[in-house]
Amino acid sequence: MKLESSVVLVTGANRGLGLEFSKQALARGAAKVYAAARNPALVTLPGVVPVLLDVTKPEQVAEAARLCGDINVLINNAGIGRFGGFLTDDADGLLREQLETNLFGMLSTSRAFAGILGNNGGGALVNILSIVSWINTPSIAAYSVSKAAAWSLTNGLRHELRAQGTQVLGFHGGFIDTDLVRDFDVPKASPEDVVRSTLDALEAGEEEVAVDELSRQVKQGLSHGVYLTTDIVAG
Ligand SMILES: NC(=O)c1ccc[n+]([C@@H]2O[C@H](COP(=O)([O-])OP(=O)(O)OC[C@H]3O[C@@H](n4cnc5c(N)ncnc54)[C@H](OP(=O)(O)O)[C@@H]3O)[C@@H](O)[C@H]2O)c1
Repeated sequence: MKLESSVVLVTGANRGLGLEFSKQALARGAAKVYAAARNPALVTLPGVVPVLLDVTKPEQVAEAARLCGDINVLINNAGIGRFGGFLTDDADGLLREQLETNLFGMLSTSRAFAGILGNNGGGALVNILSIVSWINTPSIAAYSVSKAAAWSLTNGLRHELRAQGTQVLGFHGGFIDTDLVRDFDVPKASPEDVVRSTLDALEAGEEEVAVDELSRQVKQGLSHGVYLTTDIVAG
């Protein structure tokens, strides 16, 4: 998979990592970048094609698939993060809300574009996951469940899409300097660096990328039960 001359759709492209994915896809020579957003008026990056897309709205997903039938790379980046543990009030509401975007939204866009990727030569699906796909911590417990479920979804999609030649790349990152984690006073990786690592991994044909030191440590720690404590995220 080479980004040069590719046609890319990025969800949640108006800010944060989605904006950075759009910038770097263009810089690598993508022929077209659809910058999908809940409010396309907020897409101001020159050179992209703004598209209306709330990933929780099936009619918008269907319309985006109708409009963007030429893509060969889908970057499922849109996501939300809410604070709170499982014993707080409305823990189930928080979980449902995050599953709606982070899991069902990803499922919906993946299903809508799977045939398009296949028709356009296979291409690639990039799913933005997290270190909390692998561990859980009380400050973002329900978010972690949604990212664990999205990891499993990604692993399943990889098997189902292999027959049509679609590369499925799972992105795992720790804290990255965007609005999502602005209230966390911890060291953060830069969006520029993690997006560059992801696109390098995509172009190298990889299926999973741990984009920063923290995610590489968590991945290495899985066989030693890193998820049994919160030490690694508590610093
Ligand atoms: N920052 C981190 O530390 C970190 C680490 C690992 C993984 N991630 C993941 O990286 C992805 C991007 O997050 P970010 O850090 O860039 O956060 P961000 O700056 O908060 O951006 C989130 C983006 O997702 C969009 N979005 C939210 N709900 C949506 C929906 N229903 N439909 C379409 N778009 C929606 C937002 O649009 P609006 O502007 O309309 O709200 C925004 O463009 C997320 O999946 C996140 O879980 C982040």
